[in-house]
Amino acid sequence: MGPSRKAGVIWVTGASSGIGAAIARRLAAEGYTVLASARRRALLHRLARSIPELHPLPCDCADHEAVMHAVAQIEQLFGHLDGLVLCAGSALFKPLAETSVEEFEALVNATLRSAFLCTRMALPLMLRQHRGTILYISSVATLRAFPNSALYGGLKAAAAQMLRGLREEVRSQGIKVVNLHVGATDTPLWSASLRRRWRHRMLRPDDVADAVVALMQMSSRRQVLPEELVLRPQLGDLP
Ligand SMILES: NC(=O)c1ccc[n+]([C@@H]2O[C@H](COP(=O)([O-])OP(=O)(O)OC[C@H]3O[C@@H](n4cnc5c(N)ncnc54)[C@H](OP(=O)(O)O)[C@@H]3O)[C@@H](O)[C@H]2O)c1
Repeated sequence: MGPSRKAGVIWVTGASSGIGAAIARRLAAEGYTVLASARRRALLHRLARSIPELHPLPCDCADHEAVMHAVAQIEQLFGHLDGLVLCAGSALFKPLAETSVEEFEALVNATLRSAFLCTRMALPLMLRQHRGTILYISSVATLRAFPNSALYGGLKAAAAQMLRGLREEVRSQGIKVVNLHVGATDTPLWSASLRRRWRHRMLRPDDVADAVVALMQMSSRRQVLPEELVLRPQLGDLP
């Protein structure tokens, strides 16, 4: 990894696939130095192969030790961190009455614990700098209730609300916290059959990546904080 480029250093979690991979690619194209994290290191290395500004930083974001190690590496290599995009996550589309305790715990780890750990461990670095933007890839499932998404929507809402509270704790210290609530997007989060059926009216990962770049650029203005943005497909939520 080389010295950070002018646009800044951004850590993107969940960068091995779908929305996170598109965000990592797009930020790198905009001149940011991107640290790309996820568990599947081969996918991160494949992503980085043709993009010199993109550096794989394999990490299980639900693992306390692993997240501490990742932040220590960022600090050692760059000494600062301008942005954190919290995109690591997974989904579970089934009725609550059929959800097992194991599925509950796995989704808590992937969705809420990972957002907490990455935020918590990156915060001291940002607080020391008196600047930095934390951008959470939230879901429209935090804004309205969908059947078969009770747990997913509940956990995404918990993370989004945790970050709203954080926003009020750190806004006077130059830190910006942004929630981007995204509608149905064509990624492997959905089953192959649902993707085939609804792809024609889903967002594309690049649509979300474009919104992230715009929000990051807006956040670089000292006096501006784009707190929440909703990005839905033109035809609305899937029926
Ligand atoms: N697709 C949608 O319709 C939609 C809508 C709104 C919001 N979102 C949100 O967007 C985010 C990305 O989802 P996606 O649609 O792009 O799905 P995806 O293609 O399945 O991507 C999920 C990403 O999260 C990573 N991840 C999962 N658990 C992790 C962990 N413990 N540590 C590190 N990385 C982990 C996965 O990487 P590894 O498996 O390699 O670790 C993968 O890179 C999620 O937070 C999701 O809630 C998606």
